[in-house]
Amino acid sequence: MSNYHIKHLEEYFKVYRKSVREPEIFWEEIAEEHFLWRKRWNKVLSWDFQKPEIKWFEGAKLNITENCIDRHLVTKGEKTAILFEPNNPDEEAQHISYNELYKKVNRFANVLKDEGIKKGDRVCIYLPMIPELAVSVLACARIGAIHSVVFAGFSSTALSTRINDSDCKMVITSDGSFRGAKTIDLKSIVDEALEDCPDVNSVLVAKRIHSEVTMKAGRDKWLQTLLDNASSECAPELMDAEDPLFILYTSGSTGKPKGMVHTTAGYMVYTAYTFKNMFQYKENDVYWCTADIGWITGHSYIVYGPLANGATTVMFEGVPSYPDFGRFWEIIQKHKVNQFYTAPTAIRALAKEKLDFVEKYDLSSLKVIGSVGEPINEEAWHWYNDNIGKRKSPVIDTWWQTETGGIMISPIPYVTPTIPTYATLPFIGVQPAIMDEAGNELKGNQVEGRLCIKFPWPSIARTIWGNHQRYKETYFTTYKDNYFTGDGALRDATGYYRITGRVDDVIIVSGHNLGTAPIEDAINEHPAVAESAIVGFPHDIKGNALYGYVILKETGNTRDHDNLRKEINQLITEHIGPIAKLNKIQFTEGLPKTRSGKIMRRILRKIACGDTSNLGDTSTLLNPEVVERIIEEKI
Ligand code: PRX
Repeated sequence: MSNYHIKHLEEYFKVYRKSVREPEIFWEEIAEEHFLWRKRWNKVLSWDFQKPEIKWFEGAKLNITENCIDRHLVTKGEKTAILFEPNNPDEEAQHISYNELYKKVNRFANVLKDEGIKKGDRVCIYLPMIPELAVSVLACARIGAIHSVVFAGFSSTALSTRINDSDCKMVITSDGSFRGAKTIDLKSIVDEALEDCPDVNSVLVAKRIHSEVTMKAGRDKWLQTLLDNASSECAPELMDAEDPLFILYTSGSTGKPKGMVHTTAGYMVYTAYTFKNMFQYKENDVYWCTADIGWITGHSYIVYGPLANGATTVMFEGVPSYPDFGRFWEIIQKHKVNQFYTAPTAIRALAKEKLDFVEKYDLSSLKVIGSVGEPINEEAWHWYNDNIGKRKSPVIDTWWQTETGGIMISPIPYVTPTIPTYATLPFIGVQPAIMDEAGNELKGNQVEGRLCIKFPWPSIARTIWGNHQRYKETYFTTYKDNYFTGDGALRDATGYYRITGRVDDVIIVSGHNLGTAPIEDAINEHPAVAESAIVGFPHDIKGNALYGYVILKETGNTRDHDNLRKEINQLITEHIGPIAKLNKIQFTEGLPKTRSGKIMRRILRKIACGDTSNLGDTSTLLNPEVVERIIEEKI
């Protein structure tokens, strides 16, 4: 029996038990029956969470693009692989078939080669959600170059930090991007970033907004001209199972972003397998994930997972509010979308608008509606279930992370009964554990603590680029022999999981992970600022918004505070991007600190939330008097 497609709850439990009892036999069967290998593996799994070192399908040779494209050509050459829906609804959608995708990817791969890119080289991709983005990702994978996609909302400083961290040789970008009624000059952001990136010697520029841009001679080239002259045949590079496929940066507890490294075979197997089951994808379905390919959701569930299953995947360039708040629903009607996958922040924003925006459209094609990126609150869950799913399409609340590569805890639609705000059950092969703060596993049901995973799954990130020690310290030292997620969770009486939120210094704003340290570093660059601390506080649409406590130097106190607030947010925009701007900034004379000098964020968080009735134990504070002052001065 193939365990590839799970259709009933009993089947889920049976397959789950097998995946835990005999993980190697289980994953070997999945890998063998559903993918194209050029050479078989010698060993399914070797792992050691102490080192840490994890290897899946060692010794195997493959190319992921053969699995995502070539093998579908015989039976589905004319099927739409990528359905591109532009920002402007008056511009025609593009249906890119598997045959066309094959040619586009091969052409692009040949361009990369002509530009001197070889297996193992890092290529930074800084593009809007246009087909060139998916194609360039696949072209890198075709020749074994490691792609590092940087979300095109990041600032030039954030971009140059990421380019330099993984020593990218090339940047692929566009003249600009459309975002609702706005255009953004991406090329000038790249130009600014590259002033600090001496190792980048080639920039390929796609034309999207047809704006005037400066092209640096010898470095910058128009992509289309090169593609026009390239052959549409490019033999796939044979990759080892554990060769890196991509690097994707995520925020952490220090100022430096973490370049999570995903490797080839395990990532392919897991993203494909989860895609098939989480979306119950059937041959002629049209699937749409609204994420940006600049995030892991886009990598795994716009590009690799869907294409490995020969699916039709929608790529949307625009925003949910343009030209009006009905845009998502209009697209679902227009393309008869069957599976829809979005983020709670978008759901909350759209739920605030008049229901007319939804009711105008026929959403009857939908079969599955998903949520990802942060805990979905009960109100948003019900709005989504009632108005979009019409109580017939199950809501899947999928919990996972950049580091996990694929969905880890989630209902399987039509299989797992759902409960609002619960991610429910672990996916096949995933072995969660809940820990107390002392590091003991809390066994049994009705427990709450910190979420760990105690056994490797195929798509776990293998390291942090250039810093294995940080990988070890961040994920494998807090709880011995476990991968620590950074999230809190509870397991209820029936064994269902509910994710309660981050327990570290990461704040999720509109579904984006933001580390407090890089934002504080940016604020502290201001000449008038002595010190700062950032915390999150609840926000109707964003989930969390940012509250900054800022101590000014002597000289700063004479300045106009409103101007200072603007300048601080401007600095954050320059260093990180507008997504990290602070909603509130309170100037204060001190921050509550422990005797060892650590800022007590717990107290600052409570004050920012307006919850000052019980601040907990403040006896360990070095300076308890500042707490009173901060409360009095709260804005
Ligand atoms: O805190 C969890 C939250 O998002 C974090 C991972 O963020 P990122 O690496 O950007 O990946 C987001 C897309 C996979 C997690 O540690 N998170 C993600 N999904 C959920 C969630 N929290 C609760 N429920 C979810 N469904």
